[in-house]
Amino acid sequence: MKLNYSPIPSVYQIKEILHQRTYLVNGKLKIWNGSTTNVYSTISTTKEYDRTLIGNIPDLGKEEALEALNSASAAYDNGQGLWPTMKVADRIMCLEKFVQQMILKRDEIVKLLMWEIGKNLADSQKEFDRTVSYIYDTIEAYKQMDRDAAKFEKQSGIYAHIRRGPLGVVLCLGPYNYPLNETFTLLIPALLTGNTVIFKPAKLGVLLISPLLEAFQNSFPKGVINIIYGRGRALATPIMETGKIDVLALIGHSNSANALQNCHPKKNRLRTVLGLEAKNPAIILPDADLDLTIKECISGTLSFNGQRCTALKVLYVHDEILEEFKKKFSEKVDSLIFGNPWDENVDLTPLPEKDKPSYIIELIKDAIEKGATIINKKGGELYPNFIFPAVLFPVDKSMRVFQEEQFGPVIPIVPFHDIKEPLKDMAESSYGQQVSLFGENTLTLSPLIDALVNLVCRVNLNSSCQRGPDTYPFTGRKDSAFGTLSVHDALRSFSIRTFVASKDNGYNNAILKELLQTGKSNFLSTDYLL
Ligand code: G3H
Repeated sequence: MKLNYSPIPSVYQIKEILHQRTYLVNGKLKIWNGSTTNVYSTISTTKEYDRTLIGNIPDLGKEEALEALNSASAAYDNGQGLWPTMKVADRIMCLEKFVQQMILKRDEIVKLLMWEIGKNLADSQKEFDRTVSYIYDTIEAYKQMDRDAAKFEKQSGIYAHIRRGPLGVVLCLGPYNYPLNETFTLLIPALLTGNTVIFKPAKLGVLLISPLLEAFQNSFPKGVINIIYGRGRALATPIMETGKIDVLALIGHSNSANALQNCHPKKNRLRTVLGLEAKNPAIILPDADLDLTIKECISGTLSFNGQRCTALKVLYVHDEILEEFKKKFSEKVDSLIFGNPWDENVDLTPLPEKDKPSYIIELIKDAIEKGATIINKKGGELYPNFIFPAVLFPVDKSMRVFQEEQFGPVIPIVPFHDIKEPLKDMAESSYGQQVSLFGENTLTLSPLIDALVNLVCRVNLNSSCQRGPDTYPFTGRKDSAFGTLSVHDALRSFSIRTFVASKDNGYNNAILKELLQTGKSNFLSTDYLL
């Protein structure tokens, strides 16, 4: 199929190619004169389809990767650096300085989000605004954590002043589907708790970091945040091989997480904070409210074209309502509008990975060979940068679309008669993030909820799966996650409890009192942070 061509409104046009020539290391934006990699958008500006060159980035290598590592290590200085020993209030001031500058870059970043990853305007704006709120919420949560710790406990004749301290040097790698938001949900709590960071932007959604480089540079002490560009393996592997990374913070694929962990020579030194794949199912019971279920399943399977770790990636439909569900759901899918991210009322947008349509075709072909059919009229229609979502039925375990995380617009429907069938599949699955459960009979729902909460980490009753609100725990079992990322939990994930203990006697108590009165220790303090 040809492109749905429509002229691009002036405000969203890319007027100049963004030549990113600097990278941030040791507090300096260093100029790179070596080779660069072009950044293309799969959005076309011409009637005859062609990808659009929108910028280029440095193709850094091992030397620069290790330069960034050394900078972060020096800033941490085995926990003795300025940043890890700084007063919490002062670290917060640095982050506030950063976010105030970030807010000014909203339009620029939103526009790059649309061009680089094809996210629609409303969702791109939401990604930006949600990230700013996340930063402010994190600051508030950290203040509360600090207030809760501003005291002494006493057990068995020993006083304890317990706080959370940083872990060390963090390597932070984010995903292309939320290149701003999810990356920052790692970066911000890691920084705020006193760690130093090396951050490599995602493979797509990389230029949108450029407008923030100066703010990063002028808001934090030198070496606290280092930003490098290039291929993940080329940069992250040598960094991990040094054994000097204390935390691997990665949202992406378990293959990358495993490969990087395996490079690290000191396994017990390395902590991990991981958000990985998922294959979240919807289970649709015979008494489900069909209109509501279809609405939720449409947004669950197809918002951002299904490129969300929380997307519904398989629909289990009870055979009693199967025919009606299939008909109504397929019609609804076919009514969705495909267009460019800024087009009005657009539901589906270009896929940022140029090879994604051919991958989805492979999944469809495999399913058809094994007995499934495409049940919606427009399913599988091919565009140069998109494939219209195909609803596949009946899908079974032998098919790749059942086994693989499609991360794109194809929707497998699996019929079931006995609830034990989806439960067994979920138990056997490598993933365990969330489930959507549609139905209303509480006698049926109760035992199901009790079983499902132990197979995944969030049971969404009559609604699609999602990460938010960001104050709720976001995690998963098995190959879906390691560690928990809510505003509060992320602060915990990037820190460790550490404390000062002293026996209750006149000698120690006098010293403690003086320590508190002089206020010279940034750790030992009972001041309330307001
Ligand atoms: O890609 C996974 C994201 O965490 C999904 O977040 O549910 O807010 O889209 P979301």
